[in-house]
Amino acid sequence: MGSHAVRLTVNGRGHDLALPPNTTLLTALRDLGYTDVKNGCEIGECGACAVFLNGEAVNSCMVLAHQADGAEIVTNAGLGTMKDPHPIQEAFADAGAIQCGFCTPGMVISTKALLDRNPNPTEAEIREALSGNLCRCTGYGQIVDTVKLAARRLWPVGGGE
Ligand code: FES
Ligand code: FES
Repeated sequence: MGSHAVRLTVNGRGHDLALPPNTTLLTALRDLGYTDVKNGCEIGECGACAVFLNGEAVNSCMVLAHQADGAEIVTNAGLGTMKDPHPIQEAFADAGAIQCGFCTPGMVISTKALLDRNPNPTEAEIREALSGNLCRCTGYGQIVDTVKLAARRLWPVGGGE
């Protein structure tokens, strides 16, 4: 099985790679050092590997790297840093919704995807939007509260009520 040229732009940085055709985007990203993209199941069931692919939230274990050729990818680390966190990342920390932290990057991606399309989601809409993200630690109550907190901070008028 030969390798094929793939160009990925990740968090604004371009990478020219030669990858076997069956390499997943998850593997490619982790091999590049984007270890904030977590490998939880590799079968599309846990959401830990979620990233934005040309602006759309996807499970990177379910996308082949060559399908992402030429695409813009944003991982949790591309949204903000420890020093300069995104309001959603800050809300996760402030609301006590991070225990082991394994699910957090994927939760942040799914939360951003939700709040970008719906600034004021109901609890049911939050639970539905995060239904593909598994958390073994927190129970989902704190995570729902986090999303409401993030909505209030992002859109102080009307969001997160
Ligand atoms: S590792 Fe991709 S959904 Fe679980
Ligand atoms: S904080 Fe541990 S899996 Fe969610």
